[in-house]
Formats: sequence, C-alpha cells, structure tokens
Amino acid sequence: MTVDIHPSTGLKEAIEQRRAARAFRSNPIPEAILEAIFQIGLRAPSGFNLQPWRFIVVREQQNRDKLKACAFNQRQVGEAPVVLICCGDRASAEMENIEAVIALGSEVGAMNDDYANYMRSQIPPFFENHPSFESMEAWTNRHTMLAVAHLMLVAKSFGVDSCPMEGFSTAQVKEAFHIPPHVDVCCLVALGYAAEPFKQYGGRFKSDRVCFSETYGDPFLG
Ligand SMILES: Cc1cc2nc3c(=O)[nH]c(=O)nc-3n(C[C@H](O)[C@H](O)[C@H](O)COP(=O)(O)O)c2cc1C
Repeated sequence: MTVDIHPSTGLKEAIEQRRAARAFRSNPIPEAILEAIFQIGLRAPSGFNLQPWRFIVVREQQNRDKLKACAFNQRQVGEAPVVLICCGDRASAEMENIEAVIALGSEVGAMNDDYANYMRSQIPPFFENHPSFESMEAWTNRHTMLAVAHLMLVAKSFGVDSCPMEGFSTAQVKEAFHIPPHVDVCCLVALGYAAEPFKQYGGRFKSDRVCFSETYGDPFLG
C-alpha cells in the first residue's frame, strides 16, 4: 500500500523541531496521519529483516488512565490522544517468523530459494551463539528503539509531537495490557499535539566528545 499524504516538514527540520512533549492538547490525530506514521516509520531496518517490534496503540481514555497508573502518573500518558506501548517479541527469532519474512520477501519479489535456505540455516545458530548481544531483551530493544526513532521523526514531519518514556513499571504494564511473557516492553511513546512550550532545549554533546576515530578514545576531530 502506498501513502498518499505528504509530510509538511522536511527531515532536517523534523529532527531539529522534535522535542519531548510533556503536555498535550486533546485534539485527536487524524486516522490517515496515524496510518501514514506507521506505514512510513515501520520502514526501519532490522537484523535479517525480522522486524521484532510490536506496538499496542492505546487511544481509549480509560486505557490511557490505566497506563498512566503504570507510568508513575506521568501527565502526558493521560493527555496524549495516542500512547504507544512499544514492545519487542523475542519469538521473532523463531522459525515461524523467519518463514513469514521469507514469504514477505517472496511477495515483493526480493526472495529466492538460495536466500530463503540461507536464512533458515543461518539465523538459528546466530541466535544460539548471539555474538553481538548479551540477552534477547537487548536484541528486541535494539530493534524496537530504532523503529521508535523512525516513528517519532515521521510523526514530527506530519506535525505530530511525541514523548518517549522509560518511566513505567514493566510488570504492571505487562499485566494490565495482557502482554505475553516472550514479549518485552521497550518504552512508551505519547503522540499528539503539544499543549505548552517545550522545556528549554538541553543541548547535545559535540561530536568531539561522542565520536572517535578508528579506535575507541582517539579524537575524531581536532
Ligand atoms: C528512552 C527514553 C526514555 C525517556 N523517558 C522519559 C520519561 O519517562 N518521562 C519524560 O518526561 N521524558 C522522558 N524522556 C525524554 C527525555 O527526557 C528527553 O528526550 C531529553 O531530555 C531530551 O529532550 P528533547 O527530547 O526535548 O530534546 C525519555 C527519552 C528517551 C529517549
């Protein structure tokens, strides 16, 4: 399916103008915009294209109030017209999902038997050895957060503000929203239209503090 509405804000401006919103107006997000945010945002990349992210879209006021109670009563959870419970499914590394990715690739003409067999034979040992992550939750979070970043920037490009949140109790959210044991809660994201001026921009470190050249610790610039 193609998206036939277009964002009003370019990428640079969306990145510069996105801020964590702590108060929201009650205006709903138009259905077509919410759909576009998911359609475009979910183009995020993932290892072997396994796409382990899962989102519970919470819109009913009584459910947002329930979620707010699991999130240290953060105001934005009760106010934003949409709150996402952003999850990662550890079962995405299992054969059922691998076959679903193969079927998807076939549907769009990007799969052949060799690559399908490569996926079937290479993915299970990768997860047995997991050389690049300590736990499956680290793996689900790695991917889910990348999709969240895409969603927030696409949202801003359509004029929709957001607030990512780690201030919640995982156990309470899982119980209240019937999230199965093999699914991790990565973060919450409030979406809507900001009600107040944002907090003053806190700045970002320059690349000379956070980037290195060739070896960890060696200055990137200067
Ligand atoms: C993973 C993550 C968790 C966060 N958790 C919360 C939270 O629970 N509550 C909140 O008000 N803001 C939360 N924030 C927002 C940050 O405080 C905010 O992004 C940061 O101060 C930088 O401000 P800016 O996003 O407006 O540039 C979170 C941000 C991230 C990325």
